[in-house]
Amino acid sequence: MKLADNKATLSFSNGSPSVEMPVYHGSIGPDVIDIRKLYAQTGMFTYDPGFLSTASCQSAITYIDGDKGELLYRGYPIEQLATQCDFMETCHLLLYGNLPDAAGKVDFTKRVTQHTMVNEQMQFFLRGFRRDAHPMAIMTGLVGALSAFYHDSTDINNPEHREISAIRLIAKMPTLVAMAYKYSAGQPYMYPKNALSYSGNFMHMMFANPCEDYAVNPVIERALDRIFILHADHEQNASTSTVRLCGSSGTNPFAAIAAGVACLWGPAHGGANEACLNMLEDIQKMGGVAKVGEFMNQVKDKNSNVKLMGFGHRVYKNYDPRAKLMQETCKEVLGALGLENDPLFKLAMALEKIALEDDYFVQRKLYPNVDFYSGIVQRAIGIPVSLFTAIFALARTVGWIAQLNEMIGDPEYKIGRPRQLFTGSERRDVLPIDKR
Ligand code: SDX
Repeated sequence: MKLADNKATLSFSNGSPSVEMPVYHGSIGPDVIDIRKLYAQTGMFTYDPGFLSTASCQSAITYIDGDKGELLYRGYPIEQLATQCDFMETCHLLLYGNLPDAAGKVDFTKRVTQHTMVNEQMQFFLRGFRRDAHPMAIMTGLVGALSAFYHDSTDINNPEHREISAIRLIAKMPTLVAMAYKYSAGQPYMYPKNALSYSGNFMHMMFANPCEDYAVNPVIERALDRIFILHADHEQNASTSTVRLCGSSGTNPFAAIAAGVACLWGPAHGGANEACLNMLEDIQKMGGVAKVGEFMNQVKDKNSNVKLMGFGHRVYKNYDPRAKLMQETCKEVLGALGLENDPLFKLAMALEKIALEDDYFVQRKLYPNVDFYSGIVQRAIGIPVSLFTAIFALARTVGWIAQLNEMIGDPEYKIGRPRQLFTGSERRDVLPIDKR
């Protein structure tokens, strides 16, 4: 970051001495006011619950312009990556800062492929869960449990440990997600097939069984790969910030990523794709497009607590570029599967049209986000609704790791430890129980 000519001066109406604070430029996007010395100079904290105006770190990985609806991974527009690259190239880009050449792509893909199996003991963790356990409950457990098997790579301050645990996590997430699915279906686990692509292998582990041959559908293989690319990273979102804060204590990478899985599960975040599909199915049951107006009235009624899931975003105040690409992927997959008339897709498009013309949404700059269409395409592929967020976690793992490694690799990083505005009881003494 670069010191700006500009400075920020904080003055107080009560005559307290004003404070000058440096301003820094990034390469693109908003400048920052460096408040690190504010408490020492004023005895006061800043106050920003939800971090609406707070930069928690500097990063060179992902840039979002919410007003333009722009998303760049290491400077490359998501539209170009999603149409000209695959997920392995995108993982290389996020981790190392550049797209691989042909030889580099082969080498990276080979390193990932060699780590797709999990320790045979991992399957015994699943037996402890009910068959109807939510896959994200299982994933939170399994990802954290990985740290029990890799004592040779849990020192987050060792670059070699960071590198091998990054490869292991990227390689094993599809295996673990597929195991969670097979366990819930009461089917045998399918081992990874190293001859298949990353997304082809995931499809095989999900949908193949030992009793018959399974052929990967290339249209679905490409669609899944694009879904992974679209979910790979997204600046300092809630789960990435969780991974950074968790990793800042020096805990091992598996534990930090498990914290990210747990955070992503929430319906305001990664759980929105599951919630959005359930919402579409509920509206369909109510009567479909004919009932959209009634549903929208509920959404606009503050007391209803009903939100249009898959809409709105903290940063995007324009169309989420991923939602556009997801809608295109939806059309491709539904077309390839002969499901052009999928009622939920038609319902989603009708909802989107009505919302984008409705003053409530226009005033609040609410647009479809990445979760609005992703559920429809995953459902068409045959993925159960409850697994959508686990697949989001599978794809986001590379972003979480890249962000974690960027933080740990920064010599200036410290353990994250926010303060508070205390509004509780002042000091008081304990009374004997007969006097309370
Ligand atoms: C993801 O951060 C990321 O980058 C996340 C993510 C990633 O890739 O990591 O992009 C992935 O999490 C996408 C978001 C998925 N979540 C949903 O689709 C759930 C529905 N959306 C909302 O919960 C909400 O839009 C959030 C949580 C996404 C953003 O909330 P904010 O920024 O805190 O905005 P807000 O709640 O303050 O909303 C502003 C206004 C409020 O109304 P007023 O109080 O001003 O009258 O807009 C309203 C909100 O009630 N509003 C909605 C709405 N989203 C916001 N009203 C109806 N439906 C919605 N979806």
